[in-house]
Amino acid sequence: MSQTRRVQVIHGPNLDLLGTREPEIYGATTLEEIDAALAEAAKERGAGVECFQSNHEGVLVDRIHAAIGWGDGILINPGGLTHTSVVLRDALVATGMPVVEVHLSNVFAREAFRHTSYVSGIALGLVAGFGPRSYTLGLAALLDAIDG
Ligand code: DQA
Repeated sequence: MSQTRRVQVIHGPNLDLLGTREPEIYGATTLEEIDAALAEAAKERGAGVECFQSNHEGVLVDRIHAAIGWGDGILINPGGLTHTSVVLRDALVATGMPVVEVHLSNVFAREAFRHTSYVSGIALGLVAGFGPRSYTLGLAALLDAIDG
């Protein structure tokens, strides 16, 4: 198995506030802790992750572009941009890489506007509702897909 599988992890707007942001919905785990768990889980599988968060759509697009030629897949929680951003979807498609979408909360059990995702249709799959575990489950599925 290749040792060089590299996953670009993208966290969208407001996820920098995890730990204090609406803890009744998103829990008490910080983004730093999620990134550490992902790094550990990737290491166990002989892979690597690069984690990135921004509150700015264009900055996220630039980072997605930067993964071209470097990454083997993208794990993304687009935050609120999930429900609005054609731009983010187009950037993900442009990479030609497998994409897995994750959400801490079960977006389908929440407000109707969260039931639409511009990303799901181009993703391999979606993991939602398991808190921070959505990320590690999503990473495992993405690595399985990369490994074929
Ligand atoms: C979220 C769900 C989105 O609807 C919301 O805007 C977020 C977080 C989640 O991880 O549950 O910012 O992506």
